[in-house]
Amino acid sequence: MLATAERYNRVARALHAAIAVLILANLLTGFFHKPLDEVLRTMPFHKASGLTILVLSLARLGWRLTWTAPALPQSTPAWMRLAARAVHLLFYPLMIVMPLSGWIVASASDRPLTWFGLFPVAKFAVTRGDTAYVLGHEMHELLGWVFAALVVLHVVAALYHHFAMRDGLLRRMW
Ligand code: HEM
Ligand code: HEM
Repeated sequence: MLATAERYNRVARALHAAIAVLILANLLTGFFHKPLDEVLRTMPFHKASGLTILVLSLARLGWRLTWTAPALPQSTPAWMRLAARAVHLLFYPLMIVMPLSGWIVASASDRPLTWFGLFPVAKFAVTRGDTAYVLGHEMHELLGWVFAALVVLHVVAALYHHFAMRDGLLRRMW
């Protein structure tokens, strides 16, 4: 059992888990939305879950600024510390810019924007010809790939710590 000081706090762990599950779902429903549409319309879920990610990420960022993360295990090499820091730092803006750019793209569509059909969500005043739409669309697509690559790297690193280095790092967050 890890000491409390060596683990992320309960709120951080809960937010990390919820956001991780939703982001994995959004990457899948985003990249495969065309083939998925043939079977099931997943885009309304993608949009609502993406907006949830935005709200949870803002809460997480606020919470994160109020405490210091537990120090990495002594055995972690310097290059790995640097890589982990860089990836974690990149995740925060991605967790905010991805949903915001998606929101801009969805705003230009005629389809209604709701939160899981429960209540309507306001749209930005953009149309498909606007620079904001073109930029938002490009960013959403390009950053989707960057995000997916970093998530793969992050998960491989977490599993490497767990199975190869056996330093208990995974248990700090899960
Ligand atoms: C972290 C949250 C999100 C992630 C990781 C994500 C990821 C993706 C990915 C990977 C794609 C496919 C891009 C492509 O190759 O064309 C996509 C498409 C799309 N996303 Fe998201 N998304 C997120 C949030 C949102 C939100 C909040 C909305 C709207 C409110 C949204 C609306 C859309 C739309 C409309 C498309 C289709 C774009 C097109 O016409 O090609 N996304 N998303
Ligand atoms: C899929 C989307 C994910 C995102 C966006 C994400 C993001 C993050 C961020 C930003 C941190 C740093 C926390 C901080 O100090 O503020 C973190 C830590 C961590 N994540 Fe994830 N994560 C994701 C998925 C996962 C998954 C699937 C695993 C496990 C297989 C995982 C394992 C960990 C671990 C073990 C830590 C703690 C690392 C340490 O102690 O320094 N994450 N994650």
